[in-house]
Amino acid sequence: MSKTYNVAIAGATGAVGQEMIRTLEKRAFPVAELRLLASSRSAGRFMTFRGESIPVGVLDHDSFEGIDFALFSAGGSRSLEYAPAAVRAGAIVIDNSSAYRMDPAVPLVVPEVNPEDVTDHDGIIANPNCTTIIMLVALQPLHQLSPIRRIIVSTYQSASGAGAQAMEELQNQTEEVLQNQAVTKSAFPHQIAFNLFSHNSTIDDSGYCEEERKMVYETRKILHDDTIRVCPTTVRVPVLRAHSEAIVIEQDRKISVEEARAVLAKAPGVVVVDDPVANHFPMPVEVTGTDDVAVGRIRDDLSHENGLALFACGDQLLKGAALNAVQIAELLVAS
Ligand code: A2P
Repeated sequence: MSKTYNVAIAGATGAVGQEMIRTLEKRAFPVAELRLLASSRSAGRFMTFRGESIPVGVLDHDSFEGIDFALFSAGGSRSLEYAPAAVRAGAIVIDNSSAYRMDPAVPLVVPEVNPEDVTDHDGIIANPNCTTIIMLVALQPLHQLSPIRRIIVSTYQSASGAGAQAMEELQNQTEEVLQNQAVTKSAFPHQIAFNLFSHNSTIDDSGYCEEERKMVYETRKILHDDTIRVCPTTVRVPVLRAHSEAIVIEQDRKISVEEARAVLAKAPGVVVVDDPVANHFPMPVEVTGTDDVAVGRIRDDLSHENGLALFACGDQLLKGAALNAVQIAELLVAS
């Protein structure tokens, strides 16, 4: 009989946690027991996995006895507080928060990009930031053709990146605006319906916000290249759950549009959507609920001889979070 594993999800009731449950089921991950954990607010709640109704328990230090894989998506402070307890209990933690990403002892893994890093851990493996994952799945095939030296990226980030309440806020505000009512703000500092704003994470002395700094430093860690230059502008837009990114890269040698399209068409986790005649390119509504990162608008950078421009979209809750975490667990099972 093939081996099965006990899996816990910390933050099971959240936007990412719910997708983790679905992804484990959809990919037939060999789960023996699934333990669902959230805050005391969710006590008494049940969630469905493989047709079975499972009670949601309260996340605590003793929640991880007998667990093989603990998937965390309950925010950074919960990861810092409870992930060490999970490791002490013998679990391997796959953490979706930013708490451990830049810790040199913690691998930061995108399975399509640096799968070999997954085994070099002390019990915790970090899932990168959603924008970094989506960008690097699109760029890795091009980076393999010729090293990328510089990236200029502008993001169009969905509400889902800020959690389930933020998604609800976008829907509620949309109704409020359409009914000529004042908008209610809670999850976001600004109106998100019929608006967009610069990502609201903290800006430091560099002039870049935390989300942008994540794209810079996580990219360098995942690609094992501290010289790669990244200039991001991160923007929240009124889209429910898929992120888009306009990316311009500079490489060692000139990659033609045809060469780029051909290598992307064969790349794992990528689907090329690039039809200038029909004006059909990657769109959030078309990638929602799908696993692959869509890439299109592949064209020469008219401002640099070794430059290439493209547009990518990925489901933030899936490839940007839950799917990447489950793929990491699959790599560990395979290794
Ligand atoms: P709960 O639903 O009980 O509040 P999202 O990113 O979509 O906002 O989801 C956050 C997830 O993290 C939810 O499952 C939420 O549970 C969980 N969570 C938030 N705060 C805590 C906490 N203090 N202890 C345990 N889980 C928490």
